[in-house]
Amino acid sequence: MKKAGWVLTAALLLSGCQQMDGAEKDKQTETQEKNKAEKPADQPQEKEAAAGLKLEAAFFNEIKQVNGKAVITNPENMMVLVNKEFSLPGDYTPPDLVRPKVPFSFGEQDIEKSHMRKEAAGALEKMFAAAKQEQIDLFAVSGYRSYKRQVEIMNNQIAKVGTFEKAAQAVAPPGQSEHQTGLTMDISAESVQFDLLQAFETTKEGQWLANNAHKYGFILRYPKGKENVTKYMYEPWHFRYIGIKAAEEIYKHGWTLEEYFDHVQKI
Ligand code: DAL
Ligand code: ZN
Repeated sequence: MKKAGWVLTAALLLSGCQQMDGAEKDKQTETQEKNKAEKPADQPQEKEAAAGLKLEAAFFNEIKQVNGKAVITNPENMMVLVNKEFSLPGDYTPPDLVRPKVPFSFGEQDIEKSHMRKEAAGALEKMFAAAKQEQIDLFAVSGYRSYKRQVEIMNNQIAKVGTFEKAAQAVAPPGQSEHQTGLTMDISAESVQFDLLQAFETTKEGQWLANNAHKYGFILRYPKGKENVTKYMYEPWHFRYIGIKAAEEIYKHGWTLEEYFDHVQKI
């Protein structure tokens, strides 16, 4: 059985690789290795650690089915899981949006995307101040986005790349964007012209964020090598506030938010 399994895996890998260039192949192999390593059965130590992880029921999504879609009925939950499986209600606006006192790539304008929910905004301010202490100059680029704005962004992306499927690798379908929660900020730096690029990962600002954001309650929401879990391409600029405790766990285990909820026990 074991041998047959390997042969099948190898055949699947080979057929899949025919459509990939070298870099993508590396990414896929890395993803598979990581996924393998994360299986609790393969790592007793991790199983033990994850087994102790508990979280109050209020932090889990509550869902109702609407026209075949799983719609979140408690979207104000600070740990809300929004993805291609769980949607926010179209008319959801977060209750306590404020403008964080941090530098923005577009200056002082007070506009929709310069807002975040109060708790997340406070954490963002602390994170930016800590970075500044280490001569790391971060710039906020895009925070809260309404459903209506996400429709525009999605339509622009479809016009750019041709199809909805391609567009949805980079842009969340309306109702499925974390930006609508008011708990997310896209962050960049002057060295990449305040743009949202994968090259941000090579900058000292991108690296500082990847290594320190969890201390302030933020996670890098769409990590490299986890595209099969998040269903989005790697976004080294997109940081989601979930609170320090869970962010520390996620960082320590190298999980996505989806994987955190796979491991945590509801109490
Ligand atoms: N770029 C992320 C996935 C969004 O559109 O929310
Ligand atoms: Zn984003």
